[in-house]
Amino acid sequence: MLLLAGCAAGGAPESGAAEKTGVVSTPEEEQRVTSSGENTAAPLSQSEGIFDLEKRTVLLNSGYEMPVIGLGTWTLSDDEAENSVYHALKSGMRLIDTARYYGNEVGVGRGLQKAIDEGIVTREEVFITTKIYGGNYERAGGIIDDALKDLNVDYIDLLLIHQPGADDEGVYKAMEEAVGDGKLRSIGISNYYTKEQVDEVLSFATIIPAVIQNENHLYYQNTELQDYVRQYNIVIESWYPFGGRGHTSEHFGNEVITELADKYGKSSAQIILRWQLQAGFIAIPGSSNPDHIAENYNIFDFELTDTEMQRIRSLDRQMRYENW
Ligand SMILES: NC(=O)c1ccc[n+]([C@@H]2O[C@H](COP(=O)([O-])OP(=O)(O)OC[C@H]3O[C@@H](n4cnc5c(N)ncnc54)[C@H](OP(=O)(O)O)[C@@H]3O)[C@@H](O)[C@H]2O)c1
Repeated sequence: MLLLAGCAAGGAPESGAAEKTGVVSTPEEEQRVTSSGENTAAPLSQSEGIFDLEKRTVLLNSGYEMPVIGLGTWTLSDDEAENSVYHALKSGMRLIDTARYYGNEVGVGRGLQKAIDEGIVTREEVFITTKIYGGNYERAGGIIDDALKDLNVDYIDLLLIHQPGADDEGVYKAMEEAVGDGKLRSIGISNYYTKEQVDEVLSFATIIPAVIQNENHLYYQNTELQDYVRQYNIVIESWYPFGGRGHTSEHFGNEVITELADKYGKSSAQIILRWQLQAGFIAIPGSSNPDHIAENYNIFDFELTDTEMQRIRSLDRQMRYENW
């Protein structure tokens, strides 16, 4: 089943798990490069930005495949992150989201290593995202090396600037150099909500961001940004898919969601995640509960109709919980 990012579409349910991720799909397709500041990139491939719900991946504009559903690790300690990452990989998830700021990259690395040691996954099958916080051109290279060391990996699949900062241009340049050095595969940004903010990054980017990770949920659906960045085959990834800790009941208890949960014999969490994917948003629900993690990945045996997608779309109130 193929879905255009941001479009609800039909297709048959399936059951196969994602196989290889983070792999360049077509060897001859190089990183998308613009002449700096011109934003002139033409699509390399018609399949970029299209969600393939059979493979459970999306082909990024960097040429790498990214799983469309994964585990978020914000607020998890090293020990909790290790346990959650291990169970996520055991459940079939292949995308893990962390950040320097979360202070749990060591735990994430341990969970990954445990799953590798037990033969559950290979490194190549897992897609690790982390985020760089603060810094400038001079410091960013060292921060990237620290992340590699803490995660105990040779490369990071996706590095995001965590939020707009004083020297985005310098940090982004260091990230682009790290792509050239093979330390990073894809790069992107987080907490950039408007066309203007994205245009500023594009004005100095040599490599177009592959992903923008933003707050995005039932009550804050930023389809305007999604529509704008589609021309660059940039994919939007949702943080707080359930509204974040302390707000999940507002989402799980929504009447439209509970009605659909009853209809499909699924939990509210599963309905929300399925909506995120069919709407063309990558989702990274956070959890320290192995049962919840397995549940969050069990969303590939049903499909919301266009009408149901529209009903959920209309829940949008443009209401954010955070202002960073
Ligand atoms: N870039 C950024 O600035 C930014 C900001 C915030 C978050 N993020 C990323 O996005 C991820 C997601 O955000 P989040 O974790 O803060 O919030 P979230 O995913 O919206 O919600 C997490 C909450 O949902 C609960 N939960 C998860 N699965 C559940 C299920 N199946 N049934 C019932 N409850 C369930 C979790 O509790 P249990 O632990 O009990 O399952 C936790 O309380 C983060 O972990 C982080 O990786 C990025």
